[in-house]
Amino acid sequence: MSKVLVTGGCGYIGSHANKLLAESGHHTVALDNLVHGHREFARWGRFVKLDLDDRAGLVKLLAAEKFDAVMHFAGYAYVGESVSDPAKYYRNNLAATLNLLEASQAAGVDKFIFSSSCATYGLPQSIPMDEDHPQDPINPYGRSKLMVERILGDFSSAYGLRSVCLRYFNAAGAAPGAGIGEWHDPETHLIPLALEAALGKIPAVKIFGTDYDTPDGTCLRDYIHVDDLAGAHLLALEYLFQGGRSDCFNLGNGNGFSVREVIATARRVSGRGIETEDAPRREGDPPRLIASAAKAQRVLGWKPRYTDLAEIIRTAWEWHQR
Ligand SMILES: NC(=O)c1ccc[n+]([C@@H]2O[C@H](COP(=O)([O-])OP(=O)(O)OC[C@H]3O[C@@H](n4cnc5c(N)ncnc54)[C@H](O)[C@@H]3O)[C@@H](O)[C@H]2O)c1
Repeated sequence: MSKVLVTGGCGYIGSHANKLLAESGHHTVALDNLVHGHREFARWGRFVKLDLDDRAGLVKLLAAEKFDAVMHFAGYAYVGESVSDPAKYYRNNLAATLNLLEASQAAGVDKFIFSSSCATYGLPQSIPMDEDHPQDPINPYGRSKLMVERILGDFSSAYGLRSVCLRYFNAAGAAPGAGIGEWHDPETHLIPLALEAALGKIPAVKIFGTDYDTPDGTCLRDYIHVDDLAGAHLLALEYLFQGGRSDCFNLGNGNGFSVREVIATARRVSGRGIETEDAPRREGDPPRLIASAAKAQRVLGWKPRYTDLAEIIRTAWEWHQR
């Protein structure tokens, strides 16, 4: 069994990967600065409070722990904020990642798995989007992710660091009964917002754009369960252990659901009313973002377990009610 550093291990997706790694017999260290993370999410393996900005701290940790691999989830992920404050995004998502990469290289860690995003593609030119779709991100968040992908390519050629970039579409749901779930502050994602409205914590869910060229006029997105994302990380780790070369993979279900469909499903699952409020389109919101994850299926043997939107929302509802 291997020893894995999980950065952002107190965040939403990192905590689910940490759980699955531990349950699969791996030793883990969850690293987080707790800026957006929750200390109580590090319920598996060890926890280290550290900021990726702390280069000396990272070098020391990696030299001492002898990790076999790094899974890098830590970062900022608010698209709107990245437009108004790009420096914050380049500093944390790019410069801090470079610290981590250099510390990994110095410690001889040669396997790296990176949380990339469909935001690296920009506006879709074809649907579904596969990994060969042009990458032309339209905001600093997407650009910071793409730059790290490029750096990983260079580190692979120059230093032999083998990496897997996993381009998630919309992460959703929660591990049933595990005490971890989606908890962003502020929350910008549709499913948690709909469930907060169902619980009366917010008055209504805003629908940004109702005049798109889609069946009901609202945007279509591809929702993928967080446990399925965690599963892909485990497969990517195996792939690298088996000598797999550096590569990138999309992670999505391949189905698009509209904002209105998601809200209607959230009403059905929760059995509660959810008020909505029509709002203008947000700049840079493509009408459709739908993945082709055929490559992850073919190369990694990944097959999402949660393919039903209601089932995904049910796991989120269970978490939000706690
Ligand atoms: N949630 C999604 O739908 C989605 C989609 C595509 C990509 N991603 C990427 O997946 C990753 C995880 O996303 P998430 O939704 O779990 O976010 P999250 O905010 O819940 O988790 C990120 C964690 O990283 C920590 N962190 C941030 N900067 C740090 C630093 N400098 N040092 C140490 N810890 C730091 C935060 O405290 C937080 O716990 C991010 O890189 C994000 O860009 C997420």
